Amino acid sequence: MTSTGGGSAKLWGGRFAADTNALVEAFNASIDFDRRLYREDIAGSIAHARMLAKQGIIAEADRDAIVGGLEAIRAEIDAGQFAFRIDREDIHLNIEAALIERIGDAGRRLHTARSRNDQVATDTRLFARAACDEAADALRALRAALLALAEREHDTVMPGYTHLQRAQPILLAHHLQAYEEMFTRDTERFAQARARTNVLPLGSGALAGVTYPIDRNAVAEELGFASISANSLDAVSDRDFIVDYHSAAALAVVHLSRLSEEIVLWASSEFGFVRLDDAFATGSSIMPQKKNPDVAELARGKSARVIGNLVQALTMLKGQPLAYNKDNQEDKEALFDSVDTLLLSVRVVAAMVPTLAFDRARMRAAAVANFALATDIADYLARRGVPFRDAHEAVGALVARCEREGKRFEDLTLEAYREAHPAFDDDVRELDLEAALAARELPGGTGPRAVAAARAAAHTRLRTEVGA
Ligand code: ARG
Repeated sequence: MTSTGGGSAKLWGGRFAADTNALVEAFNASIDFDRRLYREDIAGSIAHARMLAKQGIIAEADRDAIVGGLEAIRAEIDAGQFAFRIDREDIHLNIEAALIERIGDAGRRLHTARSRNDQVATDTRLFARAACDEAADALRALRAALLALAEREHDTVMPGYTHLQRAQPILLAHHLQAYEEMFTRDTERFAQARARTNVLPLGSGALAGVTYPIDRNAVAEELGFASISANSLDAVSDRDFIVDYHSAAALAVVHLSRLSEEIVLWASSEFGFVRLDDAFATGSSIMPQKKNPDVAELARGKSARVIGNLVQALTMLKGQPLAYNKDNQEDKEALFDSVDTLLLSVRVVAAMVPTLAFDRARMRAAAVANFALATDIADYLARRGVPFRDAHEAVGALVARCEREGKRFEDLTLEAYREAHPAFDDDVRELDLEAALAARELPGGTGPRAVAAARAAAHTRLRTEVGA
């Protein structure tokens, strides 16, 4: 650890005579992680310096020295040549101290009309805003991949499930498009989170505002913020935008974990619906025959982190009195972790989706096995005027009879049907998989035309979002 070299070496050290305890220095410092905000910090400082000069608060020559110095520091960090120092605590002080070393007194004027409290809130908002955009973009790519797969598999059928028991036949495309709907809502949530994030806190000072004639709107405009915060106390202490990010991310990874779980199930010998591409599976170090769905399992497992980070952010905020408290320094690692985990998970699943190879024959056989057409047969009776509850009971009796006799519906004679209910006619034998699907052409149903229409609408929605 670098020594502090005397309390007064700190940029805030004026009233301090003694060195910081070494443990406290390590405990207090955030530079090991908040260095990730250097671009945001420098952009915020440049906008601040330009505004100070425009308002006549600092000289134009000082502004030019500050902007030039900050740009040089940014280049140094980009190149991996900047020496971050733990005794300089965080990214803000590391950059400010390096600026002062570089340009002298002009650098000492940068922090006029500013506090680290409104500075860090601004940096973190800039970071979170970009993270919302990246998340939305990644989700859109995943949605495009799901729609393309649904298009390729437009007539592949499968059993639909409730309680993980085969229930009614559906189109695989309908199933895939259900996930596209979830990820569309997730995309919306990130857009909403972005809108609430896009408010400038700078100008709030430490907590009460600043005493200089600053122009907050000019800074907001330069940094692309849609508005400025209305209350300085709220602005320096508000981390709701981080909770917003975590909430949107948590639900998105929950959806991703559901899709992943389907892939794990489908890839099992028990289901045998999907074969994983070699590039997206791994082997076992002991069992030579194994091909494991690690990608899907990890996407499922990593959701735990993102959910945990949401709870971390909520718990960190709970009970904090106004205004800024150092607790808020704890907001960053969890945010970075969720951003990285979400993006990686969404991107890897999006890359895997086109490689899924379905066993269409096996899925078709499974779609009609286990009396999956029972509801349709009951509906047949109901259409002939039989009350649905009676129809349900009659078909239930038919299922029981088939199970006793080891038969499928197709094996039953018309007499057997009629013993269950006299309203049955020969055309009951026309009820097959295609008829069951075609009977569900209502909006939102699994009929082939309804699913194609929903897919076309989803495509249009996606294209509209990206402005293409
Ligand atoms: N590193 C701090 C954070 O992340 C910056 C703000 C510190 N402000 C202060 N007055 N100590 O929140």
